Amino acid sequence: MSSNSFIPLSVPNLSGNEWKYAEDAIKTGWVSSVGSYVDEFEQKFAEYVGVKRAVAVVNGTAALHISLMLAGVEAGDEVIVPDLTFVAPANAITYCNANPVFLGSDWETLGLNPAILKSFLEERCELKDGYTYNKTTGKRISAIIPMHTFGNPVDMDPLIELCKAANIAVVEDATESLGSSYKGSKTGTFGMLGCFSFNGNKIMTTGGGGMIVTNDEDLANKAKHLSTTAKSDPIEYDHDAIGYNYRLVNVLAAIGVGQLEQMDEFVATKRRNYNHYIQSLSSVEGMNMFEKQDHSESNYWMYPLILDRITPMDLTKALGEKRIQARPVWKLMHTLPMFKDCETFGIETSEEIYNKVLCIPCSTDLSEEDVNRVCESLKEIANNE
Ligand SMILES: Cc1ncc(COP(=O)(O)O)c(C=O)c1O
Repeated sequence: MSSNSFIPLSVPNLSGNEWKYAEDAIKTGWVSSVGSYVDEFEQKFAEYVGVKRAVAVVNGTAALHISLMLAGVEAGDEVIVPDLTFVAPANAITYCNANPVFLGSDWETLGLNPAILKSFLEERCELKDGYTYNKTTGKRISAIIPMHTFGNPVDMDPLIELCKAANIAVVEDATESLGSSYKGSKTGTFGMLGCFSFNGNKIMTTGGGGMIVTNDEDLANKAKHLSTTAKSDPIEYDHDAIGYNYRLVNVLAAIGVGQLEQMDEFVATKRRNYNHYIQSLSSVEGMNMFEKQDHSESNYWMYPLILDRITPMDLTKALGEKRIQARPVWKLMHTLPMFKDCETFGIETSEEIYNKVLCIPCSTDLSEEDVNRVCESLKEIANNE
């Protein structure tokens, strides 16, 4: 690769059996919403994550939508979600005609801070008839969506304990953290349901796709039913609920099977490159790679760099001039027009994270030379500040 070639932030790596399996699906004509690859993908995915069941769907947002419905979220309820997140979980809450409440994140995990959740429940909520209600709005809080930012697990033990006591269902947004674990268990397995995404920028991809996981057979059956138009008879067009056409098609599941075979390799490569960045940047003032908690394993999906002297936007521009792509953290949800009137609580650190973090190239096919070039460029920019 020449020294001035473009280094993208994150590109898919389709170097395994994806083509062979997809070709097989096409040759046999099983390209649509049923087929053996859908079953195989679901089974192997459940094994990989360590759960009883996995249900494949069209994308991570659909996985969140169905999971919230199954967690009992009803119209008029409130659902807790981090202010610092990609927009999808907040959107999924509104698909249920419920309202998001945005809570703060912490620097340790970049995810929802359980201490802030505790204060929110103590100061702003009350338990009545077995449910938690928001004292300000009078609305029931039926669920929470912890999201494992860039692959780094939220501190789940205190969060789960608080939610149990408050009877708040946990739907994990593990869309960014396939392969990550917290105290020895994979993310996605802590809540009632866990959701994954196979969007093109994720650690593994099916082009577009998602998965719902759960240890509850009944919930898994309901997830499959709701995501396949709630058809209740194998022959007759009988439907017993408003269903959704959210199934992942067989040809994409075939790609998923090929990708899943390489997950261990993807995580190992991402970890190796991440550690390379940590070492190379250790001497650079004002630029520190985020470091995971000891009790967690990250899949190192994205590579967050914490900046003290330059803004994420200025660094994005400076790297862009060197043909290196970077990506800022999402705008906080409460600053988006559709969520501007939603309640927020304890979001000061989320604001800091938004103002200080930039993600740098992290593709699994990043060469050592590429990582060195990104580091040299960062050093040069830091020295000119
Ligand atoms: C945190 C988060 N939640 C949900 C999603 C939604 O996934 P999808 O794009 O597959 O709908 C994504 C990724 O795109 C995400 O990063």
